[in-house]
Amino acid sequence: MKIRIINGPNLNMLGIREPEHYGKGTYQDMVDLISAHCREKGIEAVFYQSNHEGDLVDEIQKAYFDGTDGIVINPGAYTHTSVALLDALKSVRLPAVEVHISRVEDREDFRQVSYVRAACFLTITGRGLQGYLDAVDALAEQLGGGQ
Ligand code: DQA
Repeated sequence: MKIRIINGPNLNMLGIREPEHYGKGTYQDMVDLISAHCREKGIEAVFYQSNHEGDLVDEIQKAYFDGTDGIVINPGAYTHTSVALLDALKSVRLPAVEVHISRVEDREDFRQVSYVRAACFLTITGRGLQGYLDAVDALAEQLGGGQ
């Protein structure tokens, strides 16, 4: 089983940006944590982070062509604005989980809209980096097993 972990804008700044919302863990900490978790479960994890909307679209499309089985995506602020990311997820028709480190539902009004949600079978919010591990587990279950 091969999954893609796609992170959007400013998630490369984890550990520096607003620790009251996103904690102290860095992007590299996230990669290490998810890598270890996936290794244990025999899942191949491919990581990608970009601050650019079109590059994120390209990465989602790549998933269709390279045998990716499922997607974990935290689109960052593009969650709340991007029809292009929604369309990309719908195009590839792979099972996807939306993750947010913070509890977006308790934050500003503009964070209450998620365009990508309509293309995801599950949304996880407010669990910090653990949310990504929970997303991997949900994907593995959805895909029917660990390998
Ligand atoms: C975020 C929440 C978004 O509203 C914000 O723009 C982010 C991070 C989260 O992980 O909690 O960049 O997706």
